[in-house]
Amino acid sequence: MKKLHAFASIISFLCISSFLISTIIVDLFCSYETIAILKSLIVLPGLIVLIPAIALTGATGFRISRGRKGKIIEKKKKRMPFIALIGILIMIPSAILLNMWASAGEFGTKFWWVQLIEVVGGGVNLFLMSINMKDGFVLTGKLKLKR
Ligand code: HEM
Repeated sequence: MKKLHAFASIISFLCISSFLISTIIVDLFCSYETIAILKSLIVLPGLIVLIPAIALTGATGFRISRGRKGKIIEKKKKRMPFIALIGILIMIPSAILLNMWASAGEFGTKFWWVQLIEVVGGGVNLFLMSINMKDGFVLTGKLKLKR
C-alpha cells in the first residue's frame, strides 16, 4: 500500500508538472495547430492517466495513515481536499473547454482567460503536491528536517 502511494503520487506529480510546463512553452512559442495538439493530448491520454493517479494517491494516503497520528499527517490530510477540488473544479473543466475551443480554432479572449485560470490552478496544485511529497519523505525518514 505504501509503495502504491509513492508510485501514484509520483505519477500525479509528473503529470501535472509536464502538463503545466508544456502548456506554458507551447502557448508562448508555438503555432495554434501545435497548441490544439497539446490541448487534445492533455485530455486524452492525459486526464485518463492523471485522474486515477490522483484518486489512488488520496485513497492510499488515507489508508496508510489509519491509526496513525501526528502533525505532518494531519497537514497532509488537510491539503488533499484542496488538491482534489482544484482538480475537479478548475483543471478538468478547463482542459476540456480549452481542447474544444482549440480544436475549433477559437483562440479568442475567453480561451486565454481560461488558459490563465488553468495555469494558476495547476501551479497551486503543484505547490500543494510538492509539500505533500516533502512531508511524505519526512514521514518515511528519507528526508531529515533540520532543527
Ligand atoms: C497529492 C497528494 C500526496 C502526495 C503527492 C504524496 C506523496 C507522498 C510521498 C512521495 C511519500 C513518500 C513515499 C516513500 O518515501 O516511499 C508519502 C508518504 C506518505 N503519505 Fe503521502 N502524498 C499525498 C497525499 C497523502 C494523503 C492525503 C495522506 C493521508 C494523510 C498521505 C499519507 C502519507 C503517509 C502516512 C506516508 C508515509 C508512509 C510510510 O510511513 O511509509 N499522503 N506521500
